[in-house]
Parts: sequence; structure tokens; C-alpha cells
Amino acid sequence: MSTTLNQSSSQPRQHWVIGNWKMNPNRATAQTLAQTLASRLVETPLHTCKTAIAPMSIHLITIHEILMKVHTSPISLVAQDIAAARQTGAFTGDISADLIRETGAEWIIIGHSERRTIHHEDENLIGLKLNAALDAGLGVIWCVGETLSEREAGQATQVVSAQINAHIDILTKIDPRKLIIAYEPVWAIGTGRTASPEDAQQMHAAIRQLLTEIRAPLIQTSLLYGGSVKSDNAHSLAKCPDIDGALVGGASLDADSFLQIAKAFDIA
Ligand code: 13P
Repeated sequence: MSTTLNQSSSQPRQHWVIGNWKMNPNRATAQTLAQTLASRLVETPLHTCKTAIAPMSIHLITIHEILMKVHTSPISLVAQDIAAARQTGAFTGDISADLIRETGAEWIIIGHSERRTIHHEDENLIGLKLNAALDAGLGVIWCVGETLSEREAGQATQVVSAQINAHIDILTKIDPRKLIIAYEPVWAIGTGRTASPEDAQQMHAAIRQLLTEIRAPLIQTSLLYGGSVKSDNAHSLAKCPDIDGALVGGASLDADSFLQIAKAFDIA
């Protein structure tokens, strides 16, 4: 376990660096990337920071097999989406949480801004997916974040708080070990424009305060920053006391970049 001691708690919070591969890459490249990451993390293990990768769902089983060849896998497997529907049945194109669990995935990304925007996922659907994931025993990487116009209107904290408050029912019962929250300002995703460490820290502190007000044990929740995290900005983000890791898109498709970012958060 690692790393950042919280002022109100003697328990260290877990640091994570998670690669969200999105709709990348093809099967052969995905296999090579997973193999490279696993081998390099076995050769040079991290001390405190945990890592995870989120390939496309069609690659989960193959990648799980690659990771399992390593005696104790240094990388956890994450799925990018699940259906709200719990049971098998007439749900064309969907994959339920239980079926995702069968692939070997332990975590699921929910509420990503690309799902909110491209697939019009609203808080109602996000709530159904959060409950379906937790009932299936998956941990959730729950993404929140404001758009550029919301930030410019001075509403960033309000928007993010509303996204979290929409699911208080879940937060009052969730096992804190099954929850990671990723703050991903929409304007920083894939744009090369990252939030300044000061702005990111300010939002993370606000999220932590909100979570703690909802339920004291949630002070331990790992809060990740996402949005154009690269090896050259990871160190300054890692110095922020409330940033416990990163959810990395583009830079996670390159083994060197991903491992450098993980090393930045591997704080003793
Ligand atoms: P980028 O790192 O490519 O900006 O993507 C961030 C993201 O959306 C991770 O979920």
C-alpha cells in the first residue's frame, strides 16, 4: 500500500495509474503492449503505485490470459463499459457486468465524458451501471468533470459536486475499496491541454471534502486526475497532496510513457 497520508486519517491512500486504451489499438498491438508492460513491471516492480489497463472489451480475455502468465500480475484489468441490464437476454450489443467479470476484469470505468457525450449517458443510466457493477463485484472507476464553458462560467466545482451528489445512495453503502474517482475535465481530454496542478489539486480537495461529508470512510478514496497526462507533466501532478494517481488515455498506448507516469506516482 502507499502513500499519501491524509490529514484526517492515519491510513495511506492507494496510488493508481490506469491506462484507458479507449478504441485502440488492434489485437496484435494490444497483446504486445500488455506483454511489454507486464514483463517490464516484473523486471522493475513499482513499490507503492498500482497499475491497471482498460483494453477494448473484445480483447479482455486475451489480455487477461497474457497478464495471468505472470505469476503475480502487476497489472489489474479494467473494462471500459458495461450494460445496465443485469441478466443475459435480448440486449443486442450489450455486455453485462457479470459477463465482464467472467473475462477477468476487476474494475469498470463508468461515467466517462465520452460515454456521457457520444452515447448520451445521463445520471440515471450511470446510476444503473454503478449498481450493476457493484452487485457483480466489480470495482468502479467513476469519472466526473466539467466542460470548458462550465469552467469558464465558474461552475466547475458545482458541476462536479452535482455529478457526485446524484449518486449519494450508492456512496452511502459502497465499500470504499471498490471505488476510485477520476476527475477528468472534459476540455483537457485528448486536447494536450492539461489542468494546472493548482486547479487539479483544488478540485481534488473539493471532491475529497464532499466525499468525507457524505461518509467519513470515503476520505480514503483514491482520486485520480485524467486529461492529457504525459510523462512530462506527471511529476508536477503527483506532488499535489490530493492527487492519488492518473487515468491516462493517449500516453498509455506507449509502454515507456505509461511506465514513466506510473513511476511519477510511485511515491514511497
Ligand atoms: P487523454 O490522456 O488522451 O487526454 O485521455 C484522458 C482520458 O479520457 C482517460 O480516461
